[in-house]
Amino acid sequence: MADDRRPRFPGLEYAEAAAHHRAVDDWFLARVRPEDADTVVDLGCGSGEFTAALAELAPRGRVIGVDQDPSMLSAADRYSAPNLEFVRAPATEFDRCLEAGVADLVVSRSMLHWLPVADYPAVFGAVYRTLRPGGWYHSESGGAGNLAGLAAVFERIAAANGLRPPEPYPDAGTVFDILRATGFDIPGDGVRTVAQLRPFTRAQLADMLRTTASAVLTRQADPSDAHRLVEELVGATDELLRPDGTYDQTFVRLDILVRRPTD
Ligand SMILES: C[S@@+](CC[C@H](N)C(=O)[O-])C[C@H]1O[C@@H](n2cnc3c(N)ncnc32)[C@H](O)[C@@H]1O
Repeated sequence: MADDRRPRFPGLEYAEAAAHHRAVDDWFLARVRPEDADTVVDLGCGSGEFTAALAELAPRGRVIGVDQDPSMLSAADRYSAPNLEFVRAPATEFDRCLEAGVADLVVSRSMLHWLPVADYPAVFGAVYRTLRPGGWYHSESGGAGNLAGLAAVFERIAAANGLRPPEPYPDAGTVFDILRATGFDIPGDGVRTVAQLRPFTRAQLADMLRTTASAVLTRQADPSDAHRLVEELVGATDELLRPDGTYDQTFVRLDILVRRPTD
């Protein structure tokens, strides 16, 4: 089965297990905060918690959450506001659903690493066309070295089940070159990787493996094998215990902040 099959997420369960993402919302917003009347696109919006928070930050603007996963969008539909909407589209061509140049800001949280690097030129091109001249694209996603302990577990389970190991998380230099070729202006610290310790209890880590990380394996397996693969991954939770006795995990984020040039 092809490795590029869409990952599928259980929207409501994902929302419950995404506290580790929400714990770094303020870190993400500290780099760029939407203005009151901005039009903002949240690309790969998932179950919509962060998108709804963006809508509160831009009460006179327009916030559009974009995702390809029906279960995530159905969870996102719990949030409603006059300036908030959700659109189902793939990241590689979401611009077809929006007016060209409509966005002051495109943000994206923990989405890029779910696509192969070969798709990044299409994603960045769609972002570029959606931004107004002078608009910003801010994204954080897994970068080289992300969740190193978990990567070793993926490799072991993939090998034992005749699956390919997941594509490594991309390095900043490769992504920098693709953004540059797309035409973005890149400030001095515009593409960087940042390491973060994210706190987890054992139960929270097992939930994250079940609802999110397991898609790395199940997306390329026969659907009839999915449940067994998820349980095998969750069964590896204790392999991720740190020497300090906690289940905290070291995330490495590829943090992108680039701008569409002014005409
Ligand atoms: C880990 S979730 C992050 C969700 C949300 N941004 C957050 O902060 O909680 C990754 C999201 O990216 C979406 N995604 C992955 N690949 C995508 C693609 N090619 N096009 C659109 N959405 C995609 C998934 O459906 C999922 O909702």
